[in-house]
Amino acid sequence: MKQWQPNSWRLHPVKHIPDYPDKEKLDEVEKTLLGFPPLVFAGEVRSLRRHLAAAAEGSAFLLQGGDCAESFSEFHADNIRDTFRVLLQMAVILTSGTNMPVVKVGRMAGQFAKPRSSPTEVVNGEELPSYTGDIINDIRFDADKRKPNPKRMLKAYSQAASTLNLLRAFADGGYADLRHVQSWNMGFVKSGPQGERYRYLAEQIQESLNFMEALGISSQNTPQLRRVKYFTSHEALLLPYEEALTRVDSTSGDVYNTSAHFLWIGDRTRFLDSAHVEFCRGIQNPVGIKCGPSMNSDELIELLDILNPDNESGRITLITRFGHDKVETYLPGLIRRVQAEGRTVLWSCDPMHGNTIKSSKGIKTRPFDRILDEVKESLNVHRAEGSYAGGIHLEMTGQNVTECTGGLDDISEADLSDRYRTHCDPRLNANQAIELAFLIADELKQNGH
Ligand code: PEP
Ligand code: CO
Repeated sequence: MKQWQPNSWRLHPVKHIPDYPDKEKLDEVEKTLLGFPPLVFAGEVRSLRRHLAAAAEGSAFLLQGGDCAESFSEFHADNIRDTFRVLLQMAVILTSGTNMPVVKVGRMAGQFAKPRSSPTEVVNGEELPSYTGDIINDIRFDADKRKPNPKRMLKAYSQAASTLNLLRAFADGGYADLRHVQSWNMGFVKSGPQGERYRYLAEQIQESLNFMEALGISSQNTPQLRRVKYFTSHEALLLPYEEALTRVDSTSGDVYNTSAHFLWIGDRTRFLDSAHVEFCRGIQNPVGIKCGPSMNSDELIELLDILNPDNESGRITLITRFGHDKVETYLPGLIRRVQAEGRTVLWSCDPMHGNTIKSSKGIKTRPFDRILDEVKESLNVHRAEGSYAGGIHLEMTGQNVTECTGGLDDISEADLSDRYRTHCDPRLNANQAIELAFLIADELKQNGH
């Protein structure tokens, strides 16, 4: 294999990266980014790899979630806090279901670039480039605004840095103290039926904490009760940005991407020899590979050969996203082949991307039942194949949006237009996310996790 360089992806076939009209500006932005400080540190990335290795080996569970696309306009402290809080609540619920550590990874602080099924969009006869995420162009349907603008990368970097700063403060500074497990249950979630179930769980946790405190174990003397480890992730799509944030770690001499702890390669860009696969080959971060119905097992093994030649545990997460009615057709074959070849991977289920449908009014949505169904089907297939289903990957928000139908609040197609705010795919709202966490925890218990 040819030698890897942070820019060797440029010699490979590339899809879903814009052709910037202003090359000089692009060059200038790349140079600026190259001089900016890293957003994450190599030591943190190594720690995540160890956690993911534990999940791959069946002694931890991965919870990954957040926006489909972060945006400049929805950038508020409250939004960051609310999504973080719901992820903490879900982690507590899943911990109680699995009795295992839950590895918390946000689709946050950098999830800005989107691959789109069509490169252009037509509105009233006018055709413009599709919106491809705030790091690339503007969502407003206007010829000038839809032009890819490299300067947006600088704004995305700055927003990622502030988001990460706040997340670190929440994770470390007392907000995530288990003593506050009750008060995470705030806002509209509190009043719903899942709020009730959560309150009951929180009370049980409080009782356990009281018991431990009587034994001398408290959040004052036990940091694990006071803080959480929280990691960030996004799709490694916009390679000029990712390349500029790739650095050699001075302590190990290894190369890390420093824009997030975890990166994944999307289902549309994970073909053999792609620029995205080439880029991810050389970085030491844990890498996810989205596996949709078009992934065949030969291709998967070749990808693993390229991305994880030494078969290291914690390096690769396979994020399957087939659609609720296709899991049984596609998943068993991949699992069997991975087992036959003796590969160590972490299997995670993305029940979102194979279950997007259009409502009768033409709005993109995802029915809650199908999402749950894909999770259940995946767990069943893993159990039948003697494999470990070690994670879940969700598009969700802490806000009270109406983007996915169903759930206990029974959001109908007619309700969708009330609070439909996503910049790309429909997300679970906080209630739906918590409900799903309870249902998954129940399934995991039954599954003997
Ligand atoms: C995504 O995770 O937002 C995404 C585009 O997924 P996929 O590559 O699986 O379609
Ligand atoms: Co999406």
